[in-house]
Order: sequence, then structure tokens, then C-alpha cells
Amino acid sequence: MASSTTFMAIVTITVLALCFGSSYAQLSTTYYSKSCPNVFKAIRSVVQSAISNEPRMGASLLRLHFHDCFVNGCDGSILLDDTSSFTGEKNAVPNRNSVRGFNVVDDIKSAVEKLCPKVVSCADILAIAARDSVAILEGPTWNVKLGRRDARNASQGAADSNIPPPTSNLTNLISSFRAQGLSAKDMVALSGSHTIGKARCTTFRPRIYNETNIDKSFAKTRQENCPKKTGSGDNNLAPLDVQTPTSFDNNYYKNLINLKGLLHSDQVLFNGGSADAQVKKYTYSPDTFFVDFAAAMIKMGDNKPLTGSEGEIRKKCRMVN
Ligand code: HEM
Ligand SMILES: *[C@@H]1O[C@H](CO)[C@@H](O)[C@H](O)[C@H]1NC(C)=O
Ligand SMILES: *[C@@H]1O[C@H](CO)[C@@H](O)[C@H](O)[C@H]1NC(C)=O
Ligand SMILES: *[C@@H]1O[C@H](CO)[C@@H](O)[C@H](O)[C@H]1NC(C)=O
Repeated sequence: MASSTTFMAIVTITVLALCFGSSYAQLSTTYYSKSCPNVFKAIRSVVQSAISNEPRMGASLLRLHFHDCFVNGCDGSILLDDTSSFTGEKNAVPNRNSVRGFNVVDDIKSAVEKLCPKVVSCADILAIAARDSVAILEGPTWNVKLGRRDARNASQGAADSNIPPPTSNLTNLISSFRAQGLSAKDMVALSGSHTIGKARCTTFRPRIYNETNIDKSFAKTRQENCPKKTGSGDNNLAPLDVQTPTSFDNNYYKNLINLKGLLHSDQVLFNGGSADAQVKKYTYSPDTFFVDFAAAMIKMGDNKPLTGSEGEIRKKCRMVN
């Protein structure tokens, strides 16, 4: 009896420690079931019409969530405009002239505020919009964990140092994801996001002119709309997935094994290194890619959220209350 009492005491203490010992409360998939039961429907409908207008918007919304989560956690910080008291993230190098979708987020926020004022955070909106975008573009879906609150500041410096550049090698990529609590496996799965969306010439110019691990005719095609000279055509766009740029599928990985990765940071995933086997696996098992991708998105969304009384629920995503 004594030993089973001791055992129960240990179990109880362990459970309490797990519940309250962590630095933040848990997010939950049912967070808004009472306070805003129709939040999913409202967000889905704005995302759906934005993607109908422009299929690329699904990619842009997915990327916003990623760039939000890599800078002091998933806290809506990327959405804040610059103010006199802080410089925001919108003009950080990885974001300037590049991240987009802010108007769609504004439209979502207005719809949600009408439905349930001051209840749903901008950080949660990004997580839901990313999930919906992937699902609408024929990718996997998952239950989004919710309950994040919004930051009252932002950090351009952290955006510059935490978001990996397209010049990254495999070691760089693994360590920048590791710094956000994500494994090498998560990194390779999440990179499959580049099965949708577009990139600017400036991000892939060195690769299509100077690299040798690239399909020659693919490089030639990309050179046609991306002049060699820095400063000319820098903003010209090319699809990240040469095959199906508006469909969330495993073609990104098939491109890699055919040396048709657009970014340097794409092709390093299949270049004789430690990620080769995972890339190959995803080329013949799209289901494995989908399962791993969904799990990694949930994990990325768990990154250092503000909860409880931390932060706030913004009324407008572009500014603190
Ligand atoms: C592995 C490291 C990564 C690097 C180095 C990287 C880099 C880039 C770059 C350079 C672009 C093109 C930006 C431009 O030219 O304006 C881009 C686009 C994009 N990235 Fe990544 N990315 C990475 C991981 C991710 C992850 C984890 C996600 C999502 C979970 C993601 C989602 C996207 C999407 C969807 C686009 C297209 C956006 C659009 O068309 O608006 N990327 N990325
Ligand atoms: C933003 O606020 C958080 C929490 O209040 C704080 O830990 C962080 O250092 C602040 N960041 C900046 C750039 O001021
Ligand atoms: C990756 O890049 C870093 C610089 O960012 C460099 O120090 C390192 O040697 C490179 N690693 C490999 C394996 O090329
Ligand atoms: C290609 O590499 C050479 C030598 O390093 C460099 O001078 C040139 O700027 C590079 N070209 C592009 C388009 O990146």
C-alpha cells in the first residue's frame, strides 16, 4: 500500500509539473469552441475567395505563418507596421519586397471581429489561414492548435537573423530550424512548402548562372526571365515548383532529384548529403510527405506562443491596441 501511495504521489507531482512547470500554457484545438464557434468558417471563406482571385495567395499566407513563428515565436509580430517606438519585421531583408498577403489578413480580421470582437488573435489567424491555404490547394489538412496571443512589439533584427536566406547550405538550414525547436526532418518536410508560390530573380540568380548541380535546360529556361546582371530584373518572378506551382503536392521533391530545385537552399536537400534519403522517400510516398508536413506545421505552430495574460488580442493586426 505504502509503495502504491508513493507511486501515486510521484505520478501526481509529475503531472502537475508537466502542466504548470513549462514556460507557457498549452495551445488547444478547441480554444474558440465557446467564444467563437464560427471562426473557422469565417476565415476559410475569406481565404477561399482570396485564392480564387489569385492562387499564389495561398503560398503567401503559408509563408507569413512561417516568418511569424521564426521570430520570437508565433505571435503575430510580422503583421505589425513600423512605429516610432520599434522597427517592425516587414522591412527585414527576408521580408522586404517579398512577404505579402497583409490585405487578406486585414480582411480576415475584419470578418472575425464582426463575428466575435476582441477574441481571436492575429497569430491564430495566421495559423488557421496557413492550414486552410494548404488544404484548398489540395494538400493535407490538420487540426490547428489555438490560443496564441499577439505581441506588443516586433524585432527586425531577429527577423534578419532567424529566417534562413536562400544562400544557406544544409548545415545552415539544419541549425536555423534547430534554433526554433525543429528537427532536420521537420526542416526537409516544411521545405516542401516550395511546391507552391514564387520567388524573385534576385533569390535564385547565382544558382541558375553559377551552379553545376542544376539541370541545364531548366537553368536556361529560368535565365530567360532573370538577367545575369545584378539590378536588372531583380523582381522578376519564377515558380518555385516548375511543374505544378498552384498545387500542394510532392513535385517539389521530384524536382530536386531531377536537379530542378530553384533556390540554392532547395537543392542542398538533395546533393549527396544527409537529407537525400528523406527527399527520395517523399518522391515515391506523397502520403508520408503529407503526414510529416502536417506534424511539422503543428510543431512549428507550437513555437513559443504568448498565452494567458501575455500580449494582447489585437483589434487590428497591423498595430498594437
Ligand atoms: C528551409 C529554409 C527556407 C528558405 C531558405 C526559404 C526561402 C524562400 C525564398 C528566398 C523565397 C522567395 C521569396 C522571394 O523571392 O520574394 C521563398 C518563398 C516561399 N517560401 Fe520559403 N524558405 C524556406 C522555408 C520555408 C518554409 C518552412 C515555408 C513554410 C512552412 C516556406 C514557404 C514559402 C512559400 C509558400 C513561398 C512562396 C511565397 C509566395 O509566393 O508569396 N518556406 N522561400
Ligand atoms: C518584446 O516583448 C517581449 C515580452 O514583453 C520581450 O521579452 C522582448 O524582449 C521584446 N522585444 C523587443 C525587441 O523589444
Ligand atoms: C556552410 O556555410 C557556413 C557559413 O554560413 C560555412 O561556415 C560552412 O563551412 C558551410 N558548410 C558546408 C558543409 O559547406
Ligand atoms: C558567378 O560567380 C562569379 C565568380 O565567383 C561571380 O563573380 C559572379 O558574380 C557570379 N554570377 C552570378 C550571376 O551570381
